[in-house]
Amino acid sequence: MAVTLELSNIAKRYSKKVWGVKKMDLQVKNKEFIVLLGPSGCGKTTTMRMVAGLEEVTRGTILLDGKDITDKAPRDRGISMVFQNYAIWPHMTVFDNIAFSLKLQKIPKKEIRLRVEDTAQMVKIQELLERLPGQLSGGQQQRVALARALVVKPKLFLMDEPLSNLDAKLRVIMRTELKAIHLKTGATSIFVTHDQSEAMSMADRIVIMKDGEIVQIGTPDDVYFRSASVFVAGFIGTPPANFFNVHCHIDGKDITLTNENFNLSISRERFENLADYEGKNIILGIRPEDIEIVEESEALFSNEIMVIEPQGSHQVVALNVSDNIVKMIVPAETKLQYNDTLFLNFKMNRLHLFDSDTELRIN
Ligand SMILES: Nc1ncnc2c1ncn2[C@@H]1O[C@H](COP(=O)(O)OP(=O)(O)O)[C@@H](O)[C@H]1O
Ligand SMILES: [Mg+2]
Repeated sequence: MAVTLELSNIAKRYSKKVWGVKKMDLQVKNKEFIVLLGPSGCGKTTTMRMVAGLEEVTRGTILLDGKDITDKAPRDRGISMVFQNYAIWPHMTVFDNIAFSLKLQKIPKKEIRLRVEDTAQMVKIQELLERLPGQLSGGQQQRVALARALVVKPKLFLMDEPLSNLDAKLRVIMRTELKAIHLKTGATSIFVTHDQSEAMSMADRIVIMKDGEIVQIGTPDDVYFRSASVFVAGFIGTPPANFFNVHCHIDGKDITLTNENFNLSISRERFENLADYEGKNIILGIRPEDIEIVEESEALFSNEIMVIEPQGSHQVVALNVSDNIVKMIVPAETKLQYNDTLFLNFKMNRLHLFDSDTELRIN
């Protein structure tokens, strides 16, 4: 597929000590919906502002449709951006807000009306075109901002935490609507969030950032089932993965991972990359839904329930395993009580293994 945006080795240094982005390489394909995900301060906004031209790069190049736009003015880039605080003009009607850029482009009035009405319909504000922003709810104002950005048919559509100011219920609705709009328009998009569940539900590919660098790029399944590091496995998922420090013992074909709670035998064929870890400690990651309640005879270890958190569709059960809180997901209909002893095992094809020093994935 054709590449729309290409970031090569870009970096942003704000001052001697502060790097907004240390190093970033990314290719966004035509029609792709990319989500930048990471904790506060990891460089998401800085990245977006460099792409939009609102921030100069310290190093590196930005190509849009194969053309170098690194030093181009924002308005000449063909990029639209929507921010967390909607930033629509308070003294203009919704119609005029959406039509503004089209008027600047001297597009005929009739066409402007058609395009504004089409776009308003797409984001469901067709009834509000004559109102002023002050007469709209926060959610409606954000829809106006989206419409204003989409109406110009940008080569690239940037959204920086556009749903963060909305209440929890509306966020989840808007997430679905935005994805539907993307499927309809095919506008190549980069969407920023610090909310992993938002990222998982919307992205074609997720770019996970930490401390001004990319730590993994992949589909939602990639980052969930093949997390590149302890950081990623511990950031993605509700609740996120659990971790155990284990000692790795390799004897011919047999590999055993041991700690004070269990002796786990795993097959050499599936974990070929473990050869170098004989006698060393590694980190075992397991997701909450991959811990199973089993018969006593099949148990890897047993533990008492510390807390039960009902979620309606399922329950989250917390255990205290050697002073670590371990969370598991159990079907809603399983009858459980505080202090029950559970016999537990791991789903063997769902183990995540990480190097103790680098915290990077081994298998
Ligand atoms: N204008 C600025 N001047 C100095 N430092 C900044 C500026 N903007 C952001 N930073 C710093 O750059 C880093 C990345 O910030 P930002 O890109 O806003 O992160 P995010 O959007 O992921 O929360 C942070 O350490 C932040 O404090
Ligand atoms: Mg930000």
